[in-house]
Amino acid sequence: MCGICACTGNLNAVKLVTEGLKILEYRGYDSAGVAYIENENLKVEKAVGEICNLEKKVENLVSFTAIGHTRWATHGGVTENNAHPHFSFSKNIAMVHNGIVENYKELKEKLEIDTWRSQTDTEVFVNLVEKENGTLLEKIISASRKVIGSFAVAILDEKGNLVLGKRESPLYVAKIKNGIMAVSDTYVLSGLTENFYTLGDNEFAEIKNDEIYFYDKNGKKIIKNSEKMQKFDKKSTIFEKTHMKSEILETKNILKTTYKNYQDGNLFSQIIFPNRPKEINLIACGTAYHSALQGAEYFKKIGIPSHAYIASEFRYGNEILNKNALYIFVSQSGETADTIACAKMLKEKKMCCLALTNTPNSYLNQICGNVLPTFAGKEIAVASTKAYSCQVFVLYLFSLYISGKFQEKEKEIENFLVKFPLVDIDKNVVDKISKFEKIFFIGRRQDYITALESSLKLKEITYINSFAIASGELKHGTLALIDEKSIVIAICTEEKTKEKLFSNLEEVKARNGSVLLVTNFETNFDNLKIPTFPPSLMPLVSIIPMQFLALHICEKLGYNPDKPKNLAKSVTVE
Ligand code: G6P
Repeated sequence: MCGICACTGNLNAVKLVTEGLKILEYRGYDSAGVAYIENENLKVEKAVGEICNLEKKVENLVSFTAIGHTRWATHGGVTENNAHPHFSFSKNIAMVHNGIVENYKELKEKLEIDTWRSQTDTEVFVNLVEKENGTLLEKIISASRKVIGSFAVAILDEKGNLVLGKRESPLYVAKIKNGIMAVSDTYVLSGLTENFYTLGDNEFAEIKNDEIYFYDKNGKKIIKNSEKMQKFDKKSTIFEKTHMKSEILETKNILKTTYKNYQDGNLFSQIIFPNRPKEINLIACGTAYHSALQGAEYFKKIGIPSHAYIASEFRYGNEILNKNALYIFVSQSGETADTIACAKMLKEKKMCCLALTNTPNSYLNQICGNVLPTFAGKEIAVASTKAYSCQVFVLYLFSLYISGKFQEKEKEIENFLVKFPLVDIDKNVVDKISKFEKIFFIGRRQDYITALESSLKLKEITYINSFAIASGELKHGTLALIDEKSIVIAICTEEKTKEKLFSNLEEVKARNGSVLLVTNFETNFDNLKIPTFPPSLMPLVSIIPMQFLALHICEKLGYNPDKPKNLAKSVTVE
C-alpha cells in the first residue's frame, strides 16, 4: 500500500527512483510522482495511472537526488493533485508518505493555511514539518510527535537535504554503488547492494555526504547494524505474460523448496513455543485468513484445539487469551496493518506469538521475533496464489512436527511433490462459467475453505459478484438465489462429506442451477477431475484449477489480473 523510493548520490536519481517505483507498483498503482532538484530548484512531476505514465514525463530529467511514490489512495480520490510528492505551502519541502495521519483534520485546522492543493493527510504532514524550527531532520522529528498514525516518509528540501522517518510502515535504506537508496521493500535493492538497514519505529535518518546517520525520536544519534540482503532466486521464476500466471505455475517448485528447507526440522526447532500447546490460534486477513483456516483444521486433526480469526475482528473482540496457547500470525507481506495490530497487542500481553510470513525482514517478523518463513519467493500479483499454497503447506508441516509424525509422512510428501499436479481448466468450461450471472462456491470442511479462497480469487480479479458457503448451509437461505442464471462450483475431496455434498448439488439442479464439481471422486455431475492424494494435501491440489479459473475469466473479460481495481497487495492501513 503505497511504495516509496528515494535516492541520492553521483547517479541518475530520477531514473533509479522510477525504476524502483516500477518494482514497487504492486503496492499501489493509482498514481505516481517524483520530486527532484534541478538547477537548485525543488520540482515535482506527477501522473495518474501506472508508473509508465510518469516515466514518459521524466525520461529526460537528470538529477542527483529524487524521492518518488506510487500511490494506493486513502485520503482523497485518484487525481494528480492528490498524488505524491506533496509540497509544503512554500514549495520548499516535498514529502512522500506511506501510512495514515489519523489526526490530520485536527492538525489541518491548527495549521491555518487557506489554500490546500490536495485532499490528502500527507499535505497536512508536510506543512506541519515546514512550521517546525531547526534543520529538516529536527523539523520532521518534532512534527512526528504531533502525528497520530503511521508513516514511512522521505522528505526533500530545496537545498537538497534528504531525511527519512518511520513509524509502523516499512522503510529500508542502503548504500548502493555511487549513492544511497531508501525503499519500502528490500526487493528493490536486490542486485544493488549486499547490505541494508531497517528503520525501526520512531527512527529517523539523515543522508549527508554519502553517509546515512540514524536518530531516535529524541533526535539522539543511534548506531544501527546492517542486515544481509536476502538472495532472491530469480532463476526459478517462470516468465508468463502476467505475474499471476507465473506465480500459479511456480507453485510446484516453491512447495519443493519449502519442503527442502523444513525437512531437517531445524527451522521448527528454532522457534519458541509451548511444548504441546494447549491451543493454537491463527490470525490473518484476506487470503492469509483462508490459509489460517486450513491451518486450524490441521491442528485440530492432531488433537490441538485451534481457531482462525480475521485480524480486524479479533482486535476488537473479547477473545479469552491463553498463556499456554500459541498465536500464529499468517501474512504474505508481514505488513498488513490489522494483523500487525493484533500481534502487537498479544505481544504486549506476553502471549507466545509466531509470524508465518513470506517476507524475511518484515515488521511482523520483528514484532513476533519468532518466525516460520514461507519460501514462495517474491509474489507480485495482488491476488495471492503461490504464497497461499506455501502457507497452507508450512502449516501442514508444522502440524506434523508438533505431532511427531514428520518422519512418518516423509515418503508420502515426497511422492506428492513429485506428482504435484497443476490442473488447469479447459477453455470451454471457462467460456461456459463466465456466462453465468451468479457464481457460487460450495464445499464442506477443508473444501469449504477452498471454496472461500476460490470465490475471493474470482471476485478480486474478475469483479463478478460471487460468494462461498458451506454446502450444508445452501438450503438455509442461499438456495433462494439459485435459478438458471446461477452456477454452483463445488469442491469435494473428502470421502466423509462426499455423499452429503452430492445431495446438495441435486438440490441445485432441481432449481435449474448449473453445477461444476471439482473432485477426485467418480461422479455423474459435470466435473473437473483432480488426482487423488492423502486428504490433508488435497486443499493444495484443488485450489490450483480454481486460481486458473479466476485468471482465465479475468483474461477473457480483458482485465489485468496483476492489478485489480481498488486493491493493493499490502494493506498497511486498518
Ligand atoms: C490484501 C491483498 C490480499 C492479501 C491480504 C492479506 O488484501 O490484496 O491478496 O491476502 O491483503 O495480506 P498479507 O500480506 O497479510 O497476507
